Amino acid sequence: MDNTNHFDSIADVFNRIWYFSDDYKDFVIKHIIGDMSLSHNDILADIGGGTGTFTSRLMNEANLRKAYCIEPSSAMCDEASKLENITALCSDAHTFLTSKTPFTKMLLKEVIHHIPERESFWQKAYAMLPNGGKLLIITRPQHIAFPFFAAAKEAFVRNQPPHELFENQLKACGFEVITTQRSHTFTLPKESWYEMLRHRFMSDLGVFSDQEIEEGIKEIEQIYTEDTIDIIDNLIFITAQRR
Ligand SMILES: C[S@@+](CC[C@H](N)C(=O)[O-])C[C@H]1O[C@@H](n2cnc3c(N)ncnc32)[C@H](O)[C@@H]1O
Repeated sequence: MDNTNHFDSIADVFNRIWYFSDDYKDFVIKHIIGDMSLSHNDILADIGGGTGTFTSRLMNEANLRKAYCIEPSSAMCDEASKLENITALCSDAHTFLTSKTPFTKMLLKEVIHHIPERESFWQKAYAMLPNGGKLLIITRPQHIAFPFFAAAKEAFVRNQPPHELFENQLKACGFEVITTQRSHTFTLPKESWYEMLRHRFMSDLGVFSDQEIEEGIKEIEQIYTEDTIDIIDNLIFITAQRR
């Protein structure tokens, strides 16, 4: 299953299963606005913006000039189109850049591992950003602390390049790069976490059959004996500024 199809298949439940908590969303939004220095002068390109939830909040809370949610899965993009304060474009990352749509800031939240030919993507993005323009990648380390079963953790490592690779590519393009690691822990009823796994809320889970997911849940059950489960999300924020 390719990734775009994977997100087509979960678009209708994406907002519910990726919910985590309001507190979690506030934490991420606050750091995006701070790291990207978003203001009323900015045009934001949210690459792989999914259902547009974050794009829409950033538009309002940073009082942006304009915000695009760029999303190749038509089902996800249809959801984003329902949000009136943003413009949803059904496009992948590379095609968006060839359209020459102007922007001053670019967000890549939990999408960079899906984008092919990243070196040429950075070069084109650098050329299109104004001086002082910024790009922010939000990604995860290869070894996540999520309560996954062992095979899911291995699948995650296979799909997730080390973040130093992105830093080096960006620096080679001329960007000034600052990386900050931030962690957020939230507690869910175990059944909610299992529902997220059954819906394969992350594309890394798309390779597992229903039976493998159920066996994985049994494996987690043996380790976590309470009714609730702590989810530790270690996030990496990489800010790249055009000099
Ligand atoms: C984990 S979701 C993140 C959605 C959103 N950024 C968020 O944080 O809520 C990853 C998204 O990247 C999109 N995607 C996959 N390949 C892409 C590509 N080549 N260019 C742009 N987006 C892509 C997927 O369709 C999916 O909606």
